[in-house]
Amino acid sequence: MQLRRHRRGVAQTGRPARPRLPEQEAMTPPAPAAATSTAATFVYEDGVSRQVGIDPDKTLLDCALAAGLEVGYQCRGGTCGTCIVRIGAGSIEQRFTGASALTTAERNAGMALMCRAYADADVRIELPYTSTWTSGGGRPGLKSATVTAVVAEADDVVRLEVELDDWVDDGEDFAFTPGQFARVRVPGTDDQWRSYSMFTVPDDLPRVGFVVRLLPGGAMSDYLVSRCEIGDRVDLEGPFGSFTARGHEGERHILIAGGTGLAPLLSIIDGFRLGTAKPPPIHLVFGVSDAAQLFFAEELELRRLWMKDISITLCADRPASGFQGRTGSPLVALPDLHVTPDDRCYVSGPPAMVGAVAEALLDHGATATRVYTEQFLADKESTHE
Ligand SMILES: Cc1cc2nc3c(=O)[nH]c(=O)nc-3n(C[C@H](O)[C@H](O)[C@H](O)COP(=O)(O)OP(=O)(O)OC[C@H]3O[C@@H](n4cnc5c(N)ncnc54)[C@H](O)[C@@H]3O)c2cc1C
Ligand code: FES
Repeated sequence: MQLRRHRRGVAQTGRPARPRLPEQEAMTPPAPAAATSTAATFVYEDGVSRQVGIDPDKTLLDCALAAGLEVGYQCRGGTCGTCIVRIGAGSIEQRFTGASALTTAERNAGMALMCRAYADADVRIELPYTSTWTSGGGRPGLKSATVTAVVAEADDVVRLEVELDDWVDDGEDFAFTPGQFARVRVPGTDDQWRSYSMFTVPDDLPRVGFVVRLLPGGAMSDYLVSRCEIGDRVDLEGPFGSFTARGHEGERHILIAGGTGLAPLLSIIDGFRLGTAKPPPIHLVFGVSDAAQLFFAEELELRRLWMKDISITLCADRPASGFQGRTGSPLVALPDLHVTPDDRCYVSGPPAMVGAVAEALLDHGATATRVYTEQFLADKESTHE
C-alpha cells in the first residue's frame, strides 16, 4: 500500500495496568535447593527470596527455570534485556556471542543478563519485580490482531496500530506495563518475529500501537511499506520486558529517546499521566537524526499542555529551519539537565546512542542503579548469528 503522512490527535484515556513483567510457565512451587554446596539466592523486590542449586554449565536463567522460579525472560540470547538482574553478592561470568542488551554502564553497576550468566560459587541475584508479578495480570501469550492503521509519520518511521482479536476486558488479557514490548510475526512468514515497544497504554486495549523504523531490505519494513493493508491479520506475542517505570512520587524522571525509542517512553509518560498517583516531574529528551523527519511532535506538544510538570527538549543532528530544539544527539542536552544522584533515568533507542547516553549520565552525576536502558537490537534471526 501507499503510505500517507498523517497527523493524529491522540486522546488516550484510562489508567495504567498494575505493574507486571514477562513470562512463562505456570507458577510451580520452587524446588528445594539441590544437594550441592553452590547456590543462587534469588531475591524479589518485595523481599521474598528463593534459593536454588546451580550448575556451573547452565545459565542462571536455566537454573532458575529448572527450579520452577518465576523469572522474566524472552529471547534467551542476550538481546532483549528482559532477564536483567542485579548481582547483589558473589560473582558471575557473562558469556556473549554478539550484541548484548547490557550496556557497559549497567555491567559496571553490577547488572547482568541471566540468560548469559554463569556462576560457580554462591551468588545473590536481585530481581527487579515482586514475587507476585504474574499472579494478577495476563501472562505473555500469543494473540492474533487486525491492522487498523498503518501511517508514515516520517520518511523512515511508520505507525502501526492493531486491534487485538477476541480481547477480554478483564484486566488480564494482554495486560502490560508501560515501557514493555511485544513480538510481532512478520505477516506472510512462518517464523520471522520482530520486537516492538508499545507506545500506547494498557487502557487503550484492545488497541495496541507501535512506531517502527524502516530499514532497507528489512522483513518487517518491506511488509509495512509494500504489503500492509488495513484488515490484515497479525500475530503478537507478549508482553515482555523490564524497561518500566520505577521509583517514587516526587523523584524526577529523565527520559531520553533516540528515534523510535520514543515509543516505550511515551507509554511510560502516559502511564503516569493517566495513573491515580501524582505524576513525577519528567524531563524528556527526544533526538532524531534529521529535524525534517521529526515525528510525534503533536503528541509531545499535547503532553506539554496536559501535564503540569513535564519539560521536553528536542534534538536533531541536522536541524531544519524553524526547528526549536538543540543541534546534535541527546548528549548535547545533558549538561542543562543538572542530573542528580536521585534522578531516575531511562534511555531507549539505537544501541550506540543508548550506550553513550547511559555512560554520559553517570559522568553527569546519575546513580548507576537508577539508569535503565532499552536497546533496540536486531532480532537474532535477522543478524544470522
Ligand atoms: C526489546 C526491543 C524493542 C524494540 N522496539 C522497537 C520499536 O519500538 N521500534 C522499532 O523501530 N524497533 C524496535 N526494535 C528493533 C526491531 O525489533 C527490529 O530490529 C527492526 O524493526 C528491524 O526489523 P526489520 O524486519 O525491518 O529488519 P530485519 O529484517 O530484521 O533486518 C534488516 C537489516 O537491518 C539490520 N537490522 C535489523 N534490526 C536492526 C536494528 N535494530 N538496528 C540496526 N540494524 C538493524 C539487520 O541486521 C539486517 O541487515 C526493538 C528491539 C528490541 C530488542
Ligand atoms: S532473555 Fe536474556 S536478554 Fe533476552
